[in-house]
Amino acid sequence: MAMLRLAVIGAGLIGREHCTLIREHPGAELVGLADVSEDAASYAQGIRVPYYADYQQLLDDTKPDGVIVAVPNQLHVAAGGACLSRGIPCLVEKPIADTVPAARELVEAAETAGVPILVGHHRRHSPDIREARRIIEAGALGNLVAVNGMWMLDKPDNYFEAEWRRSPGGGPLLINLIHEIDCLRFIVGEIDSVRAFTSNAVRGFGVEDTATIALRFENGVLGSFLMSDAVASPYSWEVTSGQALYFPHQPGDCYFFGGRDGALAVPSMNLWRHDGAGKNWQDPLLRQHMPLDGSRTYRNQLDHFLAVVSGDVIPVVTARDGMMTLAATLAVETAAREDRTVTLAEMLS
Ligand SMILES: NC(=O)c1ccc[n+]([C@@H]2O[C@H](COP(=O)([O-])OP(=O)(O)OC[C@H]3O[C@@H](n4cnc5c(N)ncnc54)[C@H](O)[C@@H]3O)[C@@H](O)[C@H]2O)c1
Repeated sequence: MAMLRLAVIGAGLIGREHCTLIREHPGAELVGLADVSEDAASYAQGIRVPYYADYQQLLDDTKPDGVIVAVPNQLHVAAGGACLSRGIPCLVEKPIADTVPAARELVEAAETAGVPILVGHHRRHSPDIREARRIIEAGALGNLVAVNGMWMLDKPDNYFEAEWRRSPGGGPLLINLIHEIDCLRFIVGEIDSVRAFTSNAVRGFGVEDTATIALRFENGVLGSFLMSDAVASPYSWEVTSGQALYFPHQPGDCYFFGGRDGALAVPSMNLWRHDGAGKNWQDPLLRQHMPLDGSRTYRNQLDHFLAVVSGDVIPVVTARDGMMTLAATLAVETAAREDRTVTLAEMLS
């Protein structure tokens, strides 16, 4: 495997995880990082990687084969654009941008330049999410009818010391729900419209702490999703999959897919179907465990990004795909705020 030279823009929480993954990968080399903070400068010195305060300088000096953009959401378009203008493929962390018009700017720049962007919706690389899609596409549930999901965790008080996490745009819809929306789009199909209620009753901040969402997919499937960052529970992909970077693994489920012929719980990967002649509600269901491949989500994402950089594959989450996930997530926010049904078409118009 040829050694690919990667750089990282933004060495904060997730940027440093990317640095570690790159440094551990036999096919990649971390040639530099850019960040405006002194703490990141010390970090770069500690791992003996060239440090730049200015990411344009990083790109011009190191001429990397690929770049991971992990700066705050509002800076994704500028940093991604700097890579594209130099013809450098990049992995832009989620959300692709903070607004749909900003996302569209990056989508059009990438498509015009013919330079790939992979959006960092890492769960697309997770064995459970990939297998759920494969099982449903293979018809194991028959025609899909409905889906239900949950994301309920209790964020610590110090998480909210950062003012932006208490202000509009910094709540769990844009930070956490966006992952759920992306998974549902990937497994079920494109979202047509949404309704939602939100509440800030637990913390009283300017952002929601709890939300309930109703979804209608273009293929007619109906869905519901319940989320809260103020509930002590294991019901989240992070905890039940054991695939997230900073959470303990407590096996269980966070998604339930229902079809005419069966149901699938994810990530336990329990598939329920009738066995035998009777196929109605009083006939027994048989549980079958569908095995996973044992691969690791973030490592898979990096493997995929290296293949994108090499030109071997197109991104599994293109910039346009990332924009659609952002639009559907913002539709939930609008639906709750305005107490009405919001369509994806409206968000994109
Ligand atoms: N996919 C995931 O698992 C995941 C997890 C966490 C965060 N994220 C996303 O990654 C991004 C970063 O989140 P985070 O939690 O690491 O944030 P963070 O605040 O910990 O890190 C952001 C870093 O960017 C640096 N920065 C700010 N302005 C800069 C500039 N102009 N040039 C260079 N560096 C600059 C900051 O100094 C900071 O070190 C966000 O978009 C977030 O949504 C993704």
